Amino acid sequence: MMTEAQLNLAYLAAAALFILGLKGLTHPRSAVRGNTIGALGMLIAVAVTLVDQGVMRIELIALGLGVGAAIGAVLALRIRMTAMPQLVGLFNGFGGAASVLVAGAVFFTAMQVAARAAGAGGGVIAVTPQESIATAASGLIGAVTFFGSLVAFGKLQGLVSEKPLRYPGEQAVKVVVLGASLAAAVMIVQTPADTGLYWVLAAAAGVLGVLLVMPIGGADMPIVIALLNSYSGLAAAATGFVLSNTVLIVAGSLVGASGIILTQIMCKAMNRSLANVLFGGVGAVVESAEQDDLYAGKVKQTSGEEVAMLLKTARRVVFVPGYGMAVARAQTAVRMLTEALEHDGVDVQFGIHPVAGRMPGHMNVLLAEERISYDKLREMDQINPAFPQTDVVIVLGANDVVNPRARENSGNPIAGMPILNVDQARTVVVIKRSLSPGFAGISNPLFAADNTLMFFGDGKQAMEGLVAAYREA
Ligand code: TAP
Repeated sequence: MMTEAQLNLAYLAAAALFILGLKGLTHPRSAVRGNTIGALGMLIAVAVTLVDQGVMRIELIALGLGVGAAIGAVLALRIRMTAMPQLVGLFNGFGGAASVLVAGAVFFTAMQVAARAAGAGGGVIAVTPQESIATAASGLIGAVTFFGSLVAFGKLQGLVSEKPLRYPGEQAVKVVVLGASLAAAVMIVQTPADTGLYWVLAAAAGVLGVLLVMPIGGADMPIVIALLNSYSGLAAAATGFVLSNTVLIVAGSLVGASGIILTQIMCKAMNRSLANVLFGGVGAVVESAEQDDLYAGKVKQTSGEEVAMLLKTARRVVFVPGYGMAVARAQTAVRMLTEALEHDGVDVQFGIHPVAGRMPGHMNVLLAEERISYDKLREMDQINPAFPQTDVVIVLGANDVVNPRARENSGNPIAGMPILNVDQARTVVVIKRSLSPGFAGISNPLFAADNTLMFFGDGKQAMEGLVAAYREA
């Protein structure tokens, strides 16, 4: 056992490490260090709690740690980068489930103790109002998180239809289930002796989680996952109040706050409100007639050899990667072309849009895997003024993040979204398989612009062809 002062000091150190870890995670260069610092904080928090609680079965804990570490290591090594959002979603879900189970276990134990004391003629107060309110909050938020995350995982993994599931009376159904969940929560607070109510609450909240996520399209799932991440933090913080555990309250609050901040950043970068993501059902607009008018006779097709010749005369080249680079896994060829260009004295940079791809930092991670230096990566505000002085921009599998229609005031899903102004460069080469729209489902005038050349093909094959052509040119 530890004294309260020792315990609180250790928890304070853990909380400080969490905050430093989060700070590290704000930049790709310090992200790995930030992760390690946060993990160290968690190790301290867990170890100190076990010692304080007098847990002596060290072999059981070691077994748990070993199994957990093995599962984590295998998942981390095997998971494809494009599948990362659903893995994070699943982890959030487990966090929610843990909150439901831990808060429930504490609640049931308190009831048993009270029942035994009552049987022995004693009058014991089973739970305080703080504990019953926190238990109800853990059960409600935790179950919404767990079941919502399972649906999000299923949508991204292709187990559940990605399409938004809309039906008549949808909002009314949600309001009824929300009302039932809140009623169960209130009854737990008022009559904490009825443990069956806890399962009613968890079941109703689970249904609510499913109902909330089913009407959202698969492509919006990364935002939903960031939001569910925030919920899992809130559930953990509530469980911290159930257990009267300071470090769990702090850690849960940090996760809750950072998740909501990330959700806001993603919404802002897409110029959408959270309400629009949760209730809007975006992602299915395809305007084929309008597209025909826009592109007819104006699209100029190019080849690897032609682009290689262009690059041979370029002094400054900017890559703009997007979702298609991730799908095609073209980043190795990008690195090879970067090396070849730099060998010839060409200045190469990368323009990274905050929502390029399908998860925050998607492009940064793929390029970091190839050990492309962070010094070459430019954020939108840094790279935009440089496009007019850029000889060639290679847009690789990006579409919405370079679509000039975002500059329109309204009337399309990306109106007002800040974009990378690649159309201001001398020549733009767009590598993608067809003229198909991107995530927002709208046409892109960039493909028909005078200074744009379309290089049709799978991102990886096209880039590999380009590397070979450049080396031969
Ligand atoms: P998108 O606008 O989705 O466009 C990707 C393009 O990649 C498509 O037009 C597709 O065209 C092409 N593509 C697909 N597979 C390819 C392959 N194998 N080889 C070559 N090209 C391929 O991507 P973006 O510009 O990165 O924009 C991201 C979009 O996702 C934004 O609208 C953003 O709001 C949204 N979003 C982002 C996030 C985050 S956090 N990043 C989260 C949710 C939603 P073809 O089919 O013709 O090849």
